[in-house]
Amino acid sequence: MLRVFVRYCAKINRRGQAARRGFVRQSTSWVIAWTAAAAIIFGAIAYFNREAQETARLDLERDAIAAANKGQDESGPIVAIIKPTRLNQEKIKLGRALFHDQRLSKDNSISCAFCHDLARGGVDGLARSIGVDGKTGDINSPTIYNVSLMSAQFWDGRARDLEEQVDGPIANPLEMATSWDEILIKLNLDDELVEQFEDIYASPPNRANAINAIVEFEKSLITPSRFDRWLLGDDSAITADELKGYNIFVESGCAACHQGAAIGGNMFQLFGVARNYYDGSRKTEKSDFGRYNVTGREEDRYVFKVPTLRNVELTAPYFHDASVDTLYEAVNRMGSYQLGVDLDEEDARQITLFLRALTGDELR
Ligand code: HEC
Ligand code: HEC
Repeated sequence: MLRVFVRYCAKINRRGQAARRGFVRQSTSWVIAWTAAAAIIFGAIAYFNREAQETARLDLERDAIAAANKGQDESGPIVAIIKPTRLNQEKIKLGRALFHDQRLSKDNSISCAFCHDLARGGVDGLARSIGVDGKTGDINSPTIYNVSLMSAQFWDGRARDLEEQVDGPIANPLEMATSWDEILIKLNLDDELVEQFEDIYASPPNRANAINAIVEFEKSLITPSRFDRWLLGDDSAITADELKGYNIFVESGCAACHQGAAIGGNMFQLFGVARNYYDGSRKTEKSDFGRYNVTGREEDRYVFKVPTLRNVELTAPYFHDASVDTLYEAVNRMGSYQLGVDLDEEDARQITLFLRALTGDELR
C-alpha cells in the first residue's frame, strides 16, 4: 500500500516536473518571442526616429545653405546678439574685480585683464602673452569678449565651458603660475572682499564662488554691433560696401565656418582645408597641433576652434600663431587656405569692411 502511494507520489512529482519543464519551456519561448517582438518594434521606432532626425538635420543644413546663398535672409548663418539682461549685477561687479585682481597670480604681478585687456578688444595685442616672471606663452591670446557664446574654450577646445576654463591660466606656469590654495589665502585676508562674497554667496571666497563670479562677469561681455542692428531689421545700420562684404563673406563660403552668434566658436576645423598650411616651410611647435593635443587623433592635427570674428578689427595679430598683422591679409589668407580662392582685391576689401562692422558699439 505504502509502495503504491510512494510510486503514485513519484508519478505526480514527475508529472509536475514535466509540467514545470513544459511551463518553463513555454514561458521561455514566450519571453523570447516577446523580447524579439519588442526589439523589432523598438528597433523600428529608433530607426525611423533616427531617420527622422537625420532628415531634420539635412533639412536644417539645406535651409542654412539656402539662407547662406541668399545672403541676407533672417535665418542666415549669423545670429544677432543682444546684451543679456538676466545676469546678477552684484556677481558681475565682483567678477570684474577678480578679473582685474593681481592676487590671482603667483607674485601678484598680473591679472586676467593683463592679457585680456577690455579696452583693447579683450586681448593684449602681443603675438605671445607674457605671464609671471616675464615668461612668454606659446599661443596668441584670444579675445575675452563674447566667450560665453562659444561651445568650447581655448584654441584646441580643451575646456568644455567657462567654469572649466578658469583653472587653466591660474595653474599655467607661463601665465599666472599659482593655485587656488594660494589665491584663497590671499583673498580671505581681505576683509572688504570677504564681506562682498558673504553678501552674495553667504560664504567667504572659495574656488567655486570665485569662479562663479568670474564667469558671470564673462557672460556680461557681449558686444552687439551695427551689424546686429542690421540683422534685426535696421537697413540703415550698415553701409552698402559693408553689406556687399557680408554677401561675399556668405557666398564665398566663409560663413560655413564662421557662423552663429559668435560668428565662430561653434566648430573645429582644419587650418589649411584647401591648401596645406603646414607644408614643411613652417617650423611647428606643440601649440600648432591644435585639437590633436586634446584627442591624440591624427585627423585632429592642425585642427582649431574656429575663432569668433566679433571685434576682430581690434584683435591683431591674427591666427593662433599670430603670423599675420593686418585683417586684410588675414582675409586673403583664409580665402587661399580655407577656400582655395584668390580673393580679388575689391572682394577682400569689402569683406574686411564687413568684419569691421562687427566691432561692438561700446568698444568703438
Ligand atoms: C598671461 C596671459 C593670460 C592671462 C593672465 C590669462 N589669460 Fe586667458 N588666455 C590667454 C591665452 C594665451 C589663451 C589661449 C590659450 C589656448 O588656447 O591654449 C587664453 C584663453 C582664454 C579663454 C578662452 C577664449 C577662447 O576663445 O577660447 C578665456 C575664456 C580666458 N582665457 C579667460 C581668462 C581668465 C578668466 C583669466 C584669469 C583667471 C585669464 N584668461 C588669464 C592668455 C592669458
Ligand atoms: C573651413 C573653415 C573656415 C573657412 C571656410 C574660413 N575660416 Fe577663417 N578661420 C578658420 C579657422 C580654423 C581659423 C583659425 C586658424 C588658426 O589660427 O589656426 C580661422 C581664422 C580666421 C581669422 C583670424 C581670426 C583671429 O582672431 O585670429 C579671420 C580674420 C578669418 N578666419 C576670416 C575668414 C574669412 C574672411 C573667410 C572667408 C574668406 C574665412 N575665414 C573662411 C576656419 C575657417
